[in-house]
Amino acid sequence: MKLETIIILSPALNPGENGIVVGVAAVFCMSSVEADAQAGALWSSSDQQDGVTPEEGSRFGENHAMIQRRTRERMTLTALLESRLCPKAIVPQPEAGGLTSPKMKRRPPRTDPSRVAVASFGRAERARAQEEGAIRLGQPHAIFISGVAGFVGSKLARLFIDRGYPVVGFDNLSRGSRENLSGLLTNERFIFEKVDLSDANAVRSRFLNCHSRILISEVWHMAANSDIPAGIADASVDLRDTFLSTFNVLDSMKEVGIPFLAFASSSAVYGNLGEAPISEDVGPLLPISNYGAMKLASEALISAAVENWLDRALIFRFPNVIGVPATHGVVLDFVRKLRSTPNKLNVLGSGRQRKAYLHVNDLIDALVYLRENASERLGYYNIGPEDKGVTVSFIAETTVEAVAPGAGIEYGVEDRGWTGDVPRFSYDIAKIRALGWRPQLGSADAVRKAVVEIVGQEGHL
Ligand SMILES: NC(=O)c1ccc[n+]([C@@H]2O[C@H](COP(=O)([O-])OP(=O)(O)OC[C@H]3O[C@@H](n4cnc5c(N)ncnc54)[C@H](O)[C@@H]3O)[C@@H](O)[C@H]2O)c1
Repeated sequence: MKLETIIILSPALNPGENGIVVGVAAVFCMSSVEADAQAGALWSSSDQQDGVTPEEGSRFGENHAMIQRRTRERMTLTALLESRLCPKAIVPQPEAGGLTSPKMKRRPPRTDPSRVAVASFGRAERARAQEEGAIRLGQPHAIFISGVAGFVGSKLARLFIDRGYPVVGFDNLSRGSRENLSGLLTNERFIFEKVDLSDANAVRSRFLNCHSRILISEVWHMAANSDIPAGIADASVDLRDTFLSTFNVLDSMKEVGIPFLAFASSSAVYGNLGEAPISEDVGPLLPISNYGAMKLASEALISAAVENWLDRALIFRFPNVIGVPATHGVVLDFVRKLRSTPNKLNVLGSGRQRKAYLHVNDLIDALVYLRENASERLGYYNIGPEDKGVTVSFIAETTVEAVAPGAGIEYGVEDRGWTGDVPRFSYDIAKIRALGWRPQLGSADAVRKAVVEIVGQEGHL
């Protein structure tokens, strides 16, 4: 098959990214044999420049698809010229940066914050231009979501699919379900794999396989143990589902050089700091649950990755989130208890616990808002309502009224619902507000809305 090269130059893209666009078009025009040969040749020239040894190269040489993918990511107009794929191209000097593999990048340590701010702005701009370019040109540009069958992950997947992105999602279905993915599983832009993210080999091989089928450019890590008492009873639950899942996701990202990670952390990283509004820079952070501990440890891993090889990460710290599809949480718990014993509701703790509740629609809105508006290399944000929260007794009364009016409510004596429960806290969301985001609903309205939604969800029981 004769090679035809399509050159598409867009002023919105910087030279390095133009190089990638041309490279992708060129490789797609080749027969697979020619593509393999060219990919090998280009791998040799670009990797030699990067100081990759032949031994390292031969590791990649075992898999032609991987060579092609790595080549596509690394190709620049200069490399194309050198390989004589595109002899007539006029080559502007490639800018430093663009898509590179982890091996190509060794950033100097971050010592001067102002330099970092400028550099990160450039990177964010480039990422946006690249994303717009990729979508305009019809190139695949997938978003990976771990924990995709869960409450938040499934909502995110729907949103990104609706916005035109292909989505690759992993979940072991331990707490999420295929039901939460109804309508998505048949969507041609959605790839679902049942994978245990605590299994390093499985994550690596399935992730690399998906990435070779469709280019993944960002990762949303939502998988975790979401049952705090389960992690108190058996600490290995959070080690496995919350910490190791983060470790393994990062490892696969590093392997293929994915530049952006969004991570669902939690207010649990703060521990019990009393009722004063908690801002992001409070410390020391001393979580009181294994869940919070493993979330904090995951944040630490991400911070180290940003220092070493990851271009950009966003850490979201949110409190209780409610809405549908509910997989866990106080409202679902109350609704199910009342369905089985409609005359009484047993509440864990005194009912005086006061916490902030965020509706899931507000959460998703905030996540996407930060994706588009936060520009730090390592951004960490509280996301929550603006009030001091509502009491558990308010949630119990609202649920009883909706499900079983007249049922008696029995409270425990302890202020805490369980070990590791933080009985009272309120959130300072000034940082995300300064970027221009505010939630639509306060805690009380979020609870009222979620009760109606969850009663609807559980209606068939
Ligand atoms: N919902 C909240 O109130 C809340 C609050 C703060 C933080 N978060 C965080 O947000 C994220 C999403 O929470 P959610 O409410 O959607 O929880 P969820 O339990 O509904 O979703 C988590 C998903 O991860 C999957 N999962 C867990 N361990 C896995 C493993 N080892 N391999 C593969 N999949 C695995 C589960 O099956 C589930 O589908 C979690 O990281 C959670 O810790 C949630």
